[in-house]
Amino acid sequence: MIKLIVILGITGEQGSSIASHFLTLPSYTLRGLTRKLTSPAAQSLLSRGISLHACDLNDPSTLPSAFAGAHTIFATTDFWGPFYNPSTQSALGPNQSLGEYCYEIELQQVKNIFDAAAKTEGLQRLVISTLVDVQTLSGGRYENVFHCDGKARGVAYGRAKYPELWGKVDQAFVPNYMSNWLGKIKLRKEEDGSWRLGLVGTGARPLPHLDVEADLGAIVAAILEGRPGKKVLAAGDMVSWSDQMRIWCEMNKVPFGGFDSLPIEVFDKFFPIPGLGRELGEMMEFMEVFGYVGGDPEVVLPGQLESPPKLTSWREYVEKHEWSSILNA
Ligand SMILES: NC(=O)c1ccc[n+]([C@@H]2O[C@H](COP(=O)([O-])OP(=O)(O)OC[C@H]3O[C@@H](n4cnc5c(N)ncnc54)[C@H](OP(=O)(O)O)[C@@H]3O)[C@@H](O)[C@H]2O)c1
Repeated sequence: MIKLIVILGITGEQGSSIASHFLTLPSYTLRGLTRKLTSPAAQSLLSRGISLHACDLNDPSTLPSAFAGAHTIFATTDFWGPFYNPSTQSALGPNQSLGEYCYEIELQQVKNIFDAAAKTEGLQRLVISTLVDVQTLSGGRYENVFHCDGKARGVAYGRAKYPELWGKVDQAFVPNYMSNWLGKIKLRKEEDGSWRLGLVGTGARPLPHLDVEADLGAIVAAILEGRPGKKVLAAGDMVSWSDQMRIWCEMNKVPFGGFDSLPIEVFDKFFPIPGLGRELGEMMEFMEVFGYVGGDPEVVLPGQLESPPKLTSWREYVEKHEWSSILNA
């Protein structure tokens, strides 16, 4: 039987990885969801023979037809789209921060996914890309990691409200993207020619990282091979910030200057958007103190799945990418 997999976020980093992998699997047929069928990313997917359907997670009425006939749904939400959109500022309520507003949007999107999935006849599997509830797991110590809390609380809603659907759900905790190093993470060249990295935390704790483009699809396929109900930390490699920087320097044949451990207050000053540095800084400190998934003992790594996929290590990622634009900046 050919199974229909419906892919949310197909024009983005996560969804396109799912699409590229599942295109190679003869037992699946694909339907991608996008808000804009005419965008260059959508047009490029259409030219690869992928069928697309219009859908907006902020408009629940668009979801039933988008999910109709699905055997499997891969669901992801994008906290950062509205966060970086300057027009969001005018939508904020009195005393509402940008993070709080985007949290509400994302939480509602995840609820919309569960509401529609619960009504999708014939649905067998739902893999949701998610993160953990940082505020709760840290006992209230970190209150500003909105892009994690909204996802996690949306999943908690689905679990509480739809027990039958819940039996078909797997959670994929997506780790730090290795692609963040292609521009989002700022590497610093010192006057003596050495390179340094400054982030929140000691930089010494191994953390999960993933080549999302290359490997998320294979991880989701491996999750689907087994029974539902899994919680998987989709890590391709576990490596500390400091070791990542050292390996990056070694592979690019430049001197490693070291890692700077920054307090959240200092880190926050590097970001022009109010709240962004605090949100990311608290997330980094949480990962350092509590671990990426807050020490949840039910969470497994891809290597513990029935058919573990071959994943890209950080060293392999650095080797296969071109870094001259950063080295020569
Ligand atoms: N960067 C990291 O290290 C990291 C780590 C873990 C988790 N994450 C999470 O990853 C998520 C972003 O995923 P990504 O990197 O794949 O995003 P991306 O590359 O920026 O793409 C966003 C995708 O979401 C879709 N989308 C956005 N708003 C939508 C809406 N209202 N309705 C339907 N689709 C919508 C977009 O589709 P169209 O524009 O075509 O409609 C696009 O396909 C964020 O929530 C972030 O917290 C990031």
